Amino acid sequence: MNNKELLKIAEDARKYSHSPYSNFKVGAALLTKNNKVYTGCNIECASLGGTNCAERTAIFKAISEGCRDIEAIAIASDNSEKNEATYPCGICRQVIIEFGTEIRIITGYSEGEIYECKIKDLIPNYFLGSDFKEVK
Ligand code: THU
Repeated sequence: MNNKELLKIAEDARKYSHSPYSNFKVGAALLTKNNKVYTGCNIECASLGGTNCAERTAIFKAISEGCRDIEAIAIASDNSEKNEATYPCGICRQVIIEFGTEIRIITGYSEGEIYECKIKDLIPNYFLGSDFKEVK
């Protein structure tokens, strides 16, 4: 599975987005180290704080089905076709890095520019559970 293929899956996953409040459809495709793919979309609710981003939907699906070995997450939004890359929000960055500092983030447009970075590059001075595990 290459970046272009994973991003295309994220673009397709936008069709399930429930986003009547923002009208901003987002899709995600999570690739495991065993080459399995979990998709996600953003899910909004009238109490806006209950909204779940596409990235977290995909992560929660993977983790809740026993998969913790995440290789990469691709993200596509309504801006993708305009060649405007969408990067994960702050909450999603923290949730993604929980499962690996080296997870690759892929964004852009499958038929245009494709960008890749590591999640650790999106959170300077990141905080992890290892920072407090030693505290008794
Ligand atoms: N959203 C995502 O799903 N992922 C992102 O990376 C950015 C934001 C969603 C949340 C909300 O449903 C809508 O986009 C507008 O913020």
